[in-house]
Amino acid sequence: MKIARVLAREILASGGMPSVEVKVTLDSGAVGVASVSYGASAGSKEAAVLHDWDKHRYGGKGMLKAVDNVNNILSQVVVGMDAEDQRAIDETLIREDGTEKKSNLGANAILGVSMATARATAISQNLALHQYLQKVFNIPLPAEKTGGKLRLPKPMAVLIEGGKHADNSTDLQEYILAVTREQAAKKNVQMMEEIYQALKNILKRDGRSINVGNEGAFAPEGIADNELPIKYIVQAIGEAGYEAGVDAGVALDAAASEFYKDGKYELKTENKILSASELMDMYLAWQDQYPLVSWEDMFSEFDWDYWAKFKVKSKIPVVADDLTVTNVALLQKAINHKVADAILIKLNQAGTVTETVDCCLLANQHNFLTIPSHRGGGETNDTFLVDLAVAVGSQWIKVGPTRGERVCKYNRLMEIEEQLN
Ligand code: PGA
Ligand code: ZN
Repeated sequence: MKIARVLAREILASGGMPSVEVKVTLDSGAVGVASVSYGASAGSKEAAVLHDWDKHRYGGKGMLKAVDNVNNILSQVVVGMDAEDQRAIDETLIREDGTEKKSNLGANAILGVSMATARATAISQNLALHQYLQKVFNIPLPAEKTGGKLRLPKPMAVLIEGGKHADNSTDLQEYILAVTREQAAKKNVQMMEEIYQALKNILKRDGRSINVGNEGAFAPEGIADNELPIKYIVQAIGEAGYEAGVDAGVALDAAASEFYKDGKYELKTENKILSASELMDMYLAWQDQYPLVSWEDMFSEFDWDYWAKFKVKSKIPVVADDLTVTNVALLQKAINHKVADAILIKLNQAGTVTETVDCCLLANQHNFLTIPSHRGGGETNDTFLVDLAVAVGSQWIKVGPTRGERVCKYNRLMEIEEQLN
């Protein structure tokens, strides 16, 4: 089975700004379409998003160059290649770009081709994408944990957001509902959405705005307290009829690189500048008071020292996102330096399907949790991350609770469950 045609176009992502969609057609006639997301609070070492920087279009953020790179350069090298050899295709794409961060042709161009090829080939082989990914990458099922069954990931839904994702909200970027109950995915999705609705009622009762931020999470103004959202979510779990600490708990993503300046952490809403050690004390006090499930990026990506210190004291998994940016070498460094227990997985941080899967497999080998995630700034309706999560046996997917580009992920998860049953 060979790649016959590759065609890219510029589409709109969730924030109303451009992104890239790629259509790959195989000689079998199968067609795979994929679109690429990008973040608002990206890590500094992520694979590069290539923008046009033509000020006359979308303030410079157009993606016609990336589209051209697919149509005129990448298509030339992959047309005629064996579509079933995903690794060889991705290696070819990486070689053609020739830079470490894929800044020459753009990870937004490269990843689109990579994802669309996998999807087209899965369709051609009559397999669900998650089944095809397991087959093509020879992914071992985590049999001892699941009794040989596929594990379906549980929702981690951002319910309150601030930082770079919403104005005048909290300094910490995300307060997340992490479902912990092992039950049908459909039940877990229902629970998560019921808790979201309960939280809406609580915020209203408390005289707060229920406007939402980038990810469909509430972004109440003027909270001036980075702890209060945890209390709100715990209360919402109870008011929705569930038990905090049993059915669900709270995960935090500080995205701390965004408020790290000159070796200190600036909590603007609280009018405080904290040392890393003071910030750590604040976090550690929370873990004794609330049913917390995990912490992500609680320190800056440049503050490896404190990541290590924090991990020793933490009772719950420490998740690396900006620190490791879905990069095998950085994940290996995080493993060696014992700074985390889990890794957030974002396809566009890596820039090819193969590199993303390799990162998940390395994580699995070292008993790191993998959490495939949406992006805050420019998410699309693509649901690849859900199939990836199922394929590698992820414990959670991190996806916002509302808006089309987020709920399509939960809809795909429930569809996979229906198909497996
Ligand atoms: P981003 O945020 O996609 O805007 O980088 C999401 C996250 O930090 O997890
Ligand atoms: Zn994050």
